Amino acid sequence: MATRSAPVPAQAPALPPPAKVSASPASHGSSDAASSSDSIAQVKQAQKVQSTPSSVEVDRSASPGRITTIRNSFRVLKNLTPKQMDDFMKSYIIYDLDWANEAQMIDTLGPDYQSAVHDCLVSYYSVLNHLCALGEVEKMYIPPVMSIRAGILDNQLLYEESVARELGLKFGDKVLDLGCGRGRVAAHMSKYTGARVTGLNIDADQLSSARAFAAKRNLPLEFIQQDFNALPLALESQSFDAFYQIQALSLCKDLPATFKEIHRVLKPGAKISLLDWVSLPAYDPANSEHAELMRRIKPLIGAVGTPTVDKLHQALEKAGFRVLQSGNASVDADGLQAPLIERADGYFRRLQALVMALVKIHVLPAHFKTLMKRLTKDGEAFVKADRMRLITTSYHILAEKPLDEKPMVPSS
Ligand SMILES: C[S@@+](CC[C@H](N)C(=O)[O-])C[C@H]1O[C@@H](n2cnc3c(N)ncnc32)[C@H](O)[C@@H]1O
Repeated sequence: MATRSAPVPAQAPALPPPAKVSASPASHGSSDAASSSDSIAQVKQAQKVQSTPSSVEVDRSASPGRITTIRNSFRVLKNLTPKQMDDFMKSYIIYDLDWANEAQMIDTLGPDYQSAVHDCLVSYYSVLNHLCALGEVEKMYIPPVMSIRAGILDNQLLYEESVARELGLKFGDKVLDLGCGRGRVAAHMSKYTGARVTGLNIDADQLSSARAFAAKRNLPLEFIQQDFNALPLALESQSFDAFYQIQALSLCKDLPATFKEIHRVLKPGAKISLLDWVSLPAYDPANSEHAELMRRIKPLIGAVGTPTVDKLHQALEKAGFRVLQSGNASVDADGLQAPLIERADGYFRRLQALVMALVKIHVLPAHFKTLMKRLTKDGEAFVKADRMRLITTSYHILAEKPLDEKPMVPSS
């Protein structure tokens, strides 16, 4: 296994060259309320402040319509019911827990804690995806820093293209995306390579957005609603040519069991690419400063489990994978994500100030204040722990299902 500091293409597949496309024009639909178009205009202004010109070459054709997206999410958030708000705020309880401490899970959530976690995940993500869509993180992940000259969205696109290359994706390949968000990563992968991506997600709200987005662009994508903690996955054995996932593993109760399922559905020789949250060797749970930072960051990024790199390797190997590469995916900014975390945090804080003003003059309902306060809590803890190299959300592993393996015997 090679440890590395940058995603290096495993092979050079037949990919279309990245299109030189300038930033997509913001689309403008008709507004249903003057007040909401006012707030959209102000968010647009805040986004202008946020965006620095990026000179990186990246295919942005699968991520158009930022203003339409923002407007839609504003509308959904505005119309949240008191129950949805209550469930969203209560769902944060799971981020005070850890899969590694089952006794505490049972104590807090009861013996059927798995179904309680399921409900919390749905309540959390069905709202969070709209909050994130108000900024540059509609794809709910802070990417590795692929280029310090680029913003969050372009760094996401650059990272995704590096994944397509390392997986060797080509036209017609069947690929599985676990925890697929609103299917925007899948859309980019498919646009970039011609692959057919199947996205799996627990949350029907994100999936309906993913399906509409793919249908509008005629992309060969399929989306399945399933909790990946309720195994087996409803997928055929040996039916996928490749697999990737981005920042969903901390929501996985049993990593070896999940990897075993992924192994089952992949063809021999298939590669898998992971990008996720880990604690790094410098993190010491017995150190009170470290533990406090961890306690604050987990709800911010929505992490239940925090595996070490060794734990990920062990789980992969136990499931039958061979680890090919393992390392921090940030190739710029000295391997830190801090510049991008600060960028997202700064944007949402500016948005929060704007929202507060709009709530005050009754353009937005009062629950927006609660949402923004929750969303922006503890960003500085994330930056600090990243700079101390205690944790990262951009740890990357490339592994493969060996070709020379005996075929799996189906369990009866
Ligand atoms: C942090 S976000 C990662 C962003 C995502 N990869 C994307 O493409 O935008 C985690 C994603 O995993 C999904 N998820 C969380 N827990 C899940 C579960 N138990 N089963 C299936 N999907 C889950 C969430 O709904 C969310 O879309």
